[in-house]
Amino acid sequence: MNITQFNSKEELDQHAAELFAALLAHNPQATLGLATGSTPTGIYEKMIKMHQAGRLSFNEAATFNLDEYVGLPPGHDQSYAYYMNKYLFNHVDVRREHIHLLDGMADDLAAECSRYDQLLAAKPIDIQLLGLGHNGHIGFNEPDHSLQGGTHIVELKAETREANARFFESVDQVPAKAVTMGIGSILKADTILLVVKGADKAEIVKEALTGPITTECPASLLQTHAKVIVLLDREAGRLLD
Ligand code: F6R
Repeated sequence: MNITQFNSKEELDQHAAELFAALLAHNPQATLGLATGSTPTGIYEKMIKMHQAGRLSFNEAATFNLDEYVGLPPGHDQSYAYYMNKYLFNHVDVRREHIHLLDGMADDLAAECSRYDQLLAAKPIDIQLLGLGHNGHIGFNEPDHSLQGGTHIVELKAETREANARFFESVDQVPAKAVTMGIGSILKADTILLVVKGADKAEIVKEALTGPITTECPASLLQTHAKVIVLLDREAGRLLD
């Protein structure tokens, strides 16, 4: 693992955006695995600025998002489809037909998961951006005694719903279920870019990066991947040596 700590979120976000820009300069048709939540918004902001400055084009790239809430339509302001349009897609030159999102409104969610896995198999991810949940989840792969490899439906843990309640009017409005890429798909990415910010994540960062590899901390499985880049702000990295 290649771990870098940054003095400011600003520098961290710029560095992450530069990694995407370098990949796309080298391979314009790269497949990007993208995340939502509060962690990546600054990175997407930097990407948009670089795009506006003519330094970054998504024109030939493909994207896959990690996850989506079950039961929220794409027009709902807390759906991850809405988030991606708002924070990135509406501001860059990515082609709509190259964007891959999970449909949390699909009548047949199992079929939706298989559709996603087939698309992923055809377009392997070159770089997968990940945030980290307080309980060690990546994507919406929650701690459990076993984990699933492929895209699947997941029951969100109470702590995840509580953590995400800040985006909703109340915790009851946070959907109870989501669809998520599985750990197997995440680990198939050529490069994984794990980004973590904030003092409240310091303990789980330490556990995930230096603790035992266990399904009870899904992010600990990243220790088995050959190319993981970890970008931390000082607060998130404060418990590491
Ligand atoms: C988002 C995702 C989640 C978040 C994680 C951290 O697509 O898959 O794993 O990355 O819950 O969320 P934030 O960044 O809001 O702390």
